[in-house]
Amino acid sequence: MSERAPEDTVSYTVENRIAWVSFNRPEKRNCMSPNLNRRMTEILNELEFREDVGVLVLTGEGTAFSAGMDLKEYFRENEEKGIGATRHAQREAYGWWERLRWYEKPTIAMVNGWCFGGAYGPLFSCDLAVAAEDAQFGLSEINWGILPGGGASKVIVELTGFRNAMYHAMMGENVDGKKAAEWGLVNEAVPGDKLKARVEEIAGVLLGKNPTALRATKWAIRRVGEMTFDNSMDYLVRTQEAANFFDGEGRKEATRQFIDEKTFKPGLGAYDL
Ligand code: ACO
Repeated sequence: MSERAPEDTVSYTVENRIAWVSFNRPEKRNCMSPNLNRRMTEILNELEFREDVGVLVLTGEGTAFSAGMDLKEYFRENEEKGIGATRHAQREAYGWWERLRWYEKPTIAMVNGWCFGGAYGPLFSCDLAVAAEDAQFGLSEINWGILPGGGASKVIVELTGFRNAMYHAMMGENVDGKKAAEWGLVNEAVPGDKLKARVEEIAGVLLGKNPTALRATKWAIRRVGEMTFDNSMDYLVRTQEAANFFDGEGRKEATRQFIDEKTFKPGLGAYDL
């Protein structure tokens, strides 16, 4: 196959308010090249404030979610050019993972296949993650003589705890989707042929929630993990008060539907938006 055009390294469609964004280098197992990282940044920017997008799903074309960083185009070719090119490439990659971590819309990683090394960055950036049972996860860095950088060491400790993280990073053995779910690397694993339907179901629930509250919630859950209890309490009070400026009516309407109309119960589902 001739070289894929830079603009084709990521593809997306928007259907029923879900943006399906795919790593699109299946012939290279969706490893992340500078072109792909640049294109992903553009597409995330384009989708973030679109009215017709309520949830973003990140997945991969073909047999891989993503085989991590491109050993040729991301590492070798930039290292040959020097530290400036290397830093620039790092910033482009880390930049879109950070954007995704603090995305305005809820995000779901749909891990359909291989997921290695650098791909743990965007995996962690997504708020939720669902894997195919036979997807394969690996910190393969040790197998080719580097440490799990690009946040991967932090992600594995954060999500799976010390013992699992140490074993996974030192041994270079893969785990499947089921084990990844047991460890907490993803929320759940389902048979591959049910993966899209399950992600659609989750996205459907999210689309029924108040978007201002969802955004504040996902950012709060990420922030409080690094705060003391008292700092969390303070942050949460202030964040809710700030959210009221954006959407003071949502909460009042929900209270009205519960207390006055008795048409919904917050303990059993979302109010009628
Ligand atoms: N970087 C560069 N090229 C890659 C990468 C990668 N990370 N992953 C796959 N490719 C390329 C292969 O070189 C091959 O290219 P070619 O067709 O020009 O020869 C093509 O993608 C297909 O790969 P195969 O190895 O033939 O595919 P297969 O399905 O047999 O194996 C697997 C898939 C297991 C994912 C294998 O490609 C692999 O081990 N990839 C590397 C995974 C990895 O360790 N990534 C780096 C993690 S560390 C980090 O990200 C910092």
